Amino acid sequence: MSIEWSRSLATGLEWQDNQHKELFKRISSLIDAMNVGLGREEVGRLFKFLDEYFVVHFNAEDEAMMKYNFPGGPFHMAEHRRFQQDVELIREECNGNITTGTVIKVQRLVVDWLINHIGGIDKALGEYILRIEKKAAFDAAHQDQSNATSPKNLS
Ligand SMILES: [Fe+2]
Ligand SMILES: [Fe+2]
Repeated sequence: MSIEWSRSLATGLEWQDNQHKELFKRISSLIDAMNVGLGREEVGRLFKFLDEYFVVHFNAEDEAMMKYNFPGGPFHMAEHRRFQQDVELIREECNGNITTGTVIKVQRLVVDWLINHIGGIDKALGEYILRIEKKAAFDAAHQDQSNATSPKNLS
């Protein structure tokens, strides 16, 4: 089994796509490691990576949702917390003793997240932000034009 970043998951919002690609890279490393029997070592690294990822990526999306008043914000933020708790639960359960079962659980959880969360509500969020940013850019350009041709500027 392997997993690859697919264009169908891209939102077009650069910072969001780049952060999602990073998570893809990590899970892909885990799957590669599992294939050669080194999954347990890689899960330890993935846990560490996720600690930082939760702060950086979830904060970036949460802040963007608040800034742009994203209609699905509260549900989306709750999903972030739920994923964080699910990871924490697996980590507490293994209590430092990462087994093959732990590796499989982490792999399933993250793959499910990549496909369902990123391919679902993250995509909707990115597209929503892009629409707002494009409209704001259009309005700004239009405003410049109308200022340039307004009677007070034609003297
Ligand atoms: Fe995301
Ligand atoms: Fe998200």
